[in-house]
Amino acid sequence: MLILAIESSCDETAAAVSRNGREILADVVYSQAEMHALYGGVVPEIASRQHAEKVSLVAEQALRRAGVRPQQLDAVAATCAPGLIGALLVGANFAKACALALDVPFIPVHHIRGHVAACYVAFPRLEPPFTALVASGGHTVILDVGDYTRMTVLGASRDDAAGEAFDKIARVLSLPYPGGAAMDRLARQGDAQKYRLPHAQVQGAPFDFSFSGLKTAAVNLAHNASQKGESVDGPALAAGVCRAVAESIAPRVVQAALHCSRRAVVAAGGVAANSVLRRSLEQQCSAAGLALYLPPLHLCGDNGSMIAAQAYYEYLAGNTGTSAQNCYATMKASECVAKAQ
Ligand code: KG4
Ligand code: ZN
Repeated sequence: MLILAIESSCDETAAAVSRNGREILADVVYSQAEMHALYGGVVPEIASRQHAEKVSLVAEQALRRAGVRPQQLDAVAATCAPGLIGALLVGANFAKACALALDVPFIPVHHIRGHVAACYVAFPRLEPPFTALVASGGHTVILDVGDYTRMTVLGASRDDAAGEAFDKIARVLSLPYPGGAAMDRLARQGDAQKYRLPHAQVQGAPFDFSFSGLKTAAVNLAHNASQKGESVDGPALAAGVCRAVAESIAPRVVQAALHCSRRAVVAAGGVAANSVLRRSLEQQCSAAGLALYLPPLHLCGDNGSMIAAQAYYEYLAGNTGTSAQNCYATMKASECVAKAQ
């Protein structure tokens, strides 16, 4: 089954062509990051316009690289939730129009389910059940994945996502947007013990997070230093933040897996590229006897392959959409986008 999948939920316009879900024939990502970097964060209106300008080019390029003609496609998929609503609508409407013109099914895909599916691409033999961490710019969530299209949210961030905290702290360190990867690199030369930073636990909710305290504490450290005419130790602050994020996330993911009697853990999303978090997950999963699946860095951030892979399983489960399919800015990964009203 050949699927063309479109991803446009935030600031990447992406398209991929897959055969039977996991075999990726082409993957094209156009990143708008440079454009948004001028403003220090994603500007929704600019994101939508950029998607509108690039979506058909990116899709054409993916088809050409895959050596697939549009008429050979069996379905067209797109991310329909969650994300920036204007951005989602561009990709979804493009995909719906393609499906209509080709007379093939349209498959709406949940972005967070897509992040999990990046691991199906990276690990051909991986199958549910497992526990999944999705940590990105917009979400930090722990899922119990019972099956490809059946999952329960065990916990999530109550406020900022881990990636959002990274990006805001990076800004006060004068690192370009998005700052997560730059913080990761800067942290390598820093003393992670120098600054005391709060963790992200939530009292009475063992699998939930709150990253706003960490973000505010780190931003205040930098501001207080500059008010005194001093400068904060950037590498030490970056190292401290990476450590606090890893120490907040890794034990909770392991606890969640043990709580659900799962034997495997999957991590995905842009923040899953963080080297300190990856090391913590490796150490803690190994100590708990859990198998860990960490996708390569290019599959951590937003891409079309992950949407193409999840689309295949949504299709098998009968979760196809109609031309009336809508998009949603927020939606839990436990909900089915095709059935949403
Ligand atoms: O999954 P993603 O590409 O987009 C969303 O769905 O949000 O995640 C982007 C986020 C950004 O906040 C970015 O700063 C962060 O992932 N990120 C990182 C790293 N690489 C990307 N955060 C920490 N360490 C990294 N190495
Ligand atoms: Zn994402």
